[in-house]
Amino acid sequence: MRIGLAEIREILARRSARQRVEPANVKRSALLVLTVTALAATLAACDAGKPEASANAAQPDAPLTVSAVKVAAQGAGQSRAQVYESVRQMTALGKQLFFDPSLSGSGRLACASCHSPDHAFSPANGLSAQLGGTDMHRTGMRAAPTLKYLQSVPAFAEHYHESDDEGDESVDAGPTGGLTWDGRVDRGSDQARIPLLSSLEMGSTPARVVAAVKAAPYADAFRATFGEHVFDNEDATFKAVLQSLETFEQTPEVFYPYTSKYDAFLAGKAQLTKAELHGLQLFNDEQKGNCASCHISQRTKDGAPPQFSDFGLIAIGVPRNRALPVNRDPHFYDLGACGPERTDLGKRDEFCGIFRTPTLRNIALKKSFFHNGIYHSLDQVVRFYAGRDTNPEKFYPVVKGKVQKFDDLPQRYWANLNTEPPFDRKPGDKPALDEAEIKDVVAFLDTLTDGYKAPDGAVHASAEAAIPAVAVH
Ligand code: HEC
Ligand code: HEC
Repeated sequence: MRIGLAEIREILARRSARQRVEPANVKRSALLVLTVTALAATLAACDAGKPEASANAAQPDAPLTVSAVKVAAQGAGQSRAQVYESVRQMTALGKQLFFDPSLSGSGRLACASCHSPDHAFSPANGLSAQLGGTDMHRTGMRAAPTLKYLQSVPAFAEHYHESDDEGDESVDAGPTGGLTWDGRVDRGSDQARIPLLSSLEMGSTPARVVAAVKAAPYADAFRATFGEHVFDNEDATFKAVLQSLETFEQTPEVFYPYTSKYDAFLAGKAQLTKAELHGLQLFNDEQKGNCASCHISQRTKDGAPPQFSDFGLIAIGVPRNRALPVNRDPHFYDLGACGPERTDLGKRDEFCGIFRTPTLRNIALKKSFFHNGIYHSLDQVVRFYAGRDTNPEKFYPVVKGKVQKFDDLPQRYWANLNTEPPFDRKPGDKPALDEAEIKDVVAFLDTLTDGYKAPDGAVHASAEAAIPAVAVH
């Protein structure tokens, strides 16, 4: 059966109409909401005569959707199978691009150099910030995050009204969403532009990227996917590169498989050990870790698996990382959403010091934590949460007997700092978690790693991942 662009639009319009009726489903996603993949899944499911089976699939936003459809369908008249095939080809190309160092200025740095698939697409080494630039000796100011579970990060909003948890859309959750630590881009393709062109990272240019693709072993595949004449236009080629990377990053089985022990536990197919279970309780307990208030651990009301983030941008006063070259300048501060990397909110004091809450899925595979990569073990991170306010001298420098608390945020912005539990204490109080409890929280965090094998050896696929989110019939 052949379908045209108009029909695809109609399918997607019906999806969003349905989402309006079911507010729990309304979530704009940053990574172009997997539009292309979801579209393919939708079409594939239609073909198979069953509703789309993907709880984690897109809740597309109309304008983004149309552009993705254009790329996927390249105009009207493609059959479902052809659309599906385009997505498959773009995913395959995106994967090759992701691992290709020839796109970089040095010829030595690929996306995968900083986002290693063996570490949930975070760095394989323990550096706070990765090396890059044309000489491979430069470093930026931030730790490279995981690229998994970005599919439901909403587009950045200063005031986010979410219905999932509160059941009340009048609740303003504050600044939320967007990609990167400061939420400054909304789409995977716009994001990919940043490392490709940054002089501290891949240090390339659109012209260089295009030349590399033309000379690459996958040049023919590139033409087959984007058209015989794609290389005639540098701008079109560069955009196709960005689009392919974005599409690859939306491969469900690679980037959001939901195969952790905790997913198996939620589905009733695995048991947590005593320590893990205790850790989960502490993680959720509002008077103890209170971690789940930001790193959501429960399914949404519509049964979608937890993302371990509410995507809020929050200031928690992480200590200054003096190992970063940029911090040798005592006047330099990475203030997150108010700059310097992000420029549109520079004059807004209330945005200074806030960073997007990361997912904790696969956190045990990471080697550096927080936006500046200051900590290198989960014990240290959880100890920071427990002791930031009761024993600040353990985390911040002490100069002439005085603790320099919040040494990476100028005092005029301290009003932005979070003061909810576990940050509701003062020196002399009992920390929210003792050492044994910290160990249990870390044991629980270890259950969030994908690829859990049940004792019988089978890799578990979570039941939630199969809950239909949107029916298209
Ligand atoms: C030199 C190391 C490095 C390279 C190479 C690199 N990245 Fe990153 N990546 C980072 C860092 C650091 C951040 C956080 C940036 C920020 O917050 O400003 C990041 C952030 C991201 C994010 C946003 C994640 C989130 O949580 O919002 C995505 C998506 C991403 N990178 C994809 C890519 C792609 C695609 C490439 C290749 C074109 C790439 N990266 C190359 C270091 C790197
Ligand atoms: C008020 C919201 C909030 C609460 C409560 C909270 N977190 Fe976080 N978490 C964040 C934010 C925001 C960041 C990123 C902060 C930064 O880098 O500046 C973060 C970062 C982290 C990281 C590092 C992730 C990475 O990829 O580098 C870990 C691990 C973590 N939190 C675990 C916990 C645990 C465990 C608890 C409970 C003891 C907890 N969080 C409580 C908001 C919160």
